[in-house]
Amino acid sequence: MYIQWDDKFSVNIRQFDAQHQRLFELVNNLHRGMKEGNKRDALQATLDGLIAYTITHFGAEEQMMLKHGYPGFDAHHKEHDDLLSQVREFKVNFDAGKSMLTVEVMGFLVNWLTHHIAGTDKKYSAYLNGKGVA
Ligand SMILES: [Fe+2]
Repeated sequence: MYIQWDDKFSVNIRQFDAQHQRLFELVNNLHRGMKEGNKRDALQATLDGLIAYTITHFGAEEQMMLKHGYPGFDAHHKEHDDLLSQVREFKVNFDAGKSMLTVEVMGFLVNWLTHHIAGTDKKYSAYLNGKGVA
């Protein structure tokens, strides 16, 4: 399942919408690589890129929340951390040849991303917009 950007995902903050769109693109690239039977090292590189970008993006969101004293920071931060631990654990197993990139793995990523953006991320919109972040 490929993810397509839709206005319903907008958090009303330009830089984060752009980063979310980039994340969709990276997840779709990974999915395409899997479907086209890319070699393990190519998939590893794609996955590395996705993880690195995710870390950068989470960091940018968290910095912005902290800067403006967002009250939902702890819960939000925890969701980010939990996802990163899961993805890192998957990566270790994938690198060791113990796990495969499957439709289920891709489904998990797509699901997490869409739910997180449409649910948890949306919660900071009004608060940060109110602080002049747009
Ligand atoms: Fe987030």
